[in-house]
Amino acid sequence: MTESSVALIVLAAGQGSRMLSDLPKVLHRLGGVPLVGHALAAGRSVDPDRVVVVAGHGAEAVTRAVARLDPDARVALQPEQLGTGHAVAQALPLLEDFDGRVLVLYGDTPFVAPETLAALASHPADVVVLGFNAADPGRYGRLVVRDGALDRIVEFKDADPATRQITLCNSGVLAMDAALLREFVGRLGNDNAAGEYYLTDVVGLARAEGRSAAVVTCDEAETLGINTRAELAAAEAQFQQRRRAEALEDGVTMSDPATVWFALDTVVGRDAVIGQNVVFGPGVTIESGAEILPFCHLEGCHVSSGATVGPFARLRPGAELGGDVHVGNFVEIKNSVLDEGVKVGHLTYLGDAWVGERANIGAGTVTCNYDGVGKHRTEIGPDAFIGSDTMLVAPVRIGARAMTGSGSVITQDVPDDALGLGRARQVVKPGLAARIMQALRAGKETT
Ligand code: UD1
Ligand code: CA
Repeated sequence: MTESSVALIVLAAGQGSRMLSDLPKVLHRLGGVPLVGHALAAGRSVDPDRVVVVAGHGAEAVTRAVARLDPDARVALQPEQLGTGHAVAQALPLLEDFDGRVLVLYGDTPFVAPETLAALASHPADVVVLGFNAADPGRYGRLVVRDGALDRIVEFKDADPATRQITLCNSGVLAMDAALLREFVGRLGNDNAAGEYYLTDVVGLARAEGRSAAVVTCDEAETLGINTRAELAAAEAQFQQRRRAEALEDGVTMSDPATVWFALDTVVGRDAVIGQNVVFGPGVTIESGAEILPFCHLEGCHVSSGATVGPFARLRPGAELGGDVHVGNFVEIKNSVLDEGVKVGHLTYLGDAWVGERANIGAGTVTCNYDGVGKHRTEIGPDAFIGSDTMLVAPVRIGARAMTGSGSVITQDVPDDALGLGRARQVVKPGLAARIMQALRAGKETT
């Protein structure tokens, strides 16, 4: 293992009782993803070799979420929350053969910047703590600095009045060599005001052994932890404001940025145009020059250059739009690939489909992809023309340059260059409309 290798421990076992929720706190969403996803993403920026999440409350749900967010992360269980030091102790067996730098983060603290974590991970001191100057130090742990070095951390509950005057506070983020962390965490006691094993005590223990300790400071906004629904809502507002500003700086056009909602991993290329009231769920990539018209909802999809989407369109996971594709109003697309130049103008559902280049999908087309048990595929060849109101009962294949007649229910494959027609033959009854109306009016007069 090289000297620069880093492991990450994310503490996420707490209940978050002030959320008043059945959902573990770290699974509440911010920017479209669970809170713990933010800590994991920030932590990934220092390129860790190992990632361990400590779960306790709702451990099963947290484990499932972590597996989705970061498949390489491992989960350590802390069935009883006996303190931050105890939480780290539960993670250490999973880092038994690791001897690099360990970075400890909180799963409920989403805004720590990658540059800040890089500064912590590369700092030469034996113990490095991320501190901040608090406008209102409240109940934060206080960082006691003596002769320019960090001497110890005193928890609010244990602090005397003079210590409580200190405004330099502990964010909870800490970096330390694995071997030292193992040694000092193993020696933590719980003889304190809270009766907990405080991770913060490792600083005093390290200093008593002649080890060095230092503080890296960051802006207070980075250390914001979520404890209540109000704080979650405020954090969401902050997150969105920042992402909107970043998108504008990156050369994205937004006519009303305040109404555009981003997810943690949204990627929008320069010269893309985003209309009012567009919501990006997780996993969206918009290439440069694409246009998303107002009132669209996108999630897990890719929109290529030159494509236009909306207004009022919904792109669901697995929607892949090629160059110059046009998706119009009231169109829903799920798990479908639309090759270059495809047009789906109005009122259509495409699910589990492939649509070849330049095919035109008429208004009201539906891929009937679900039979109540399984999902089935629809394939539409290049340059095909699907008539309005076609029901494509999957599995079904429409050939290249083939057509379907409007109002058709297509249950069999249509070969290349063929016309598929599946509807009742039209009957015309001369004069019958007039006779019916006359009879109806006569009936109304007598009642
Ligand atoms: C902790 C710090 C304090 C710091 C503050 C910043 C200690 C002893 N105190 O206090 O110095 O100013 O954070 O917010 O570390 N957790 C577990 N298992 C546990 C206990 C906690 O996983 O047994 C997790 C929580 O889910 C949370 C994080 O650790 O994400 C911090 O725990 P919390 O109880 O909020 O710590 P504080 O008392 O706020
Ligand atoms: Ca806290």
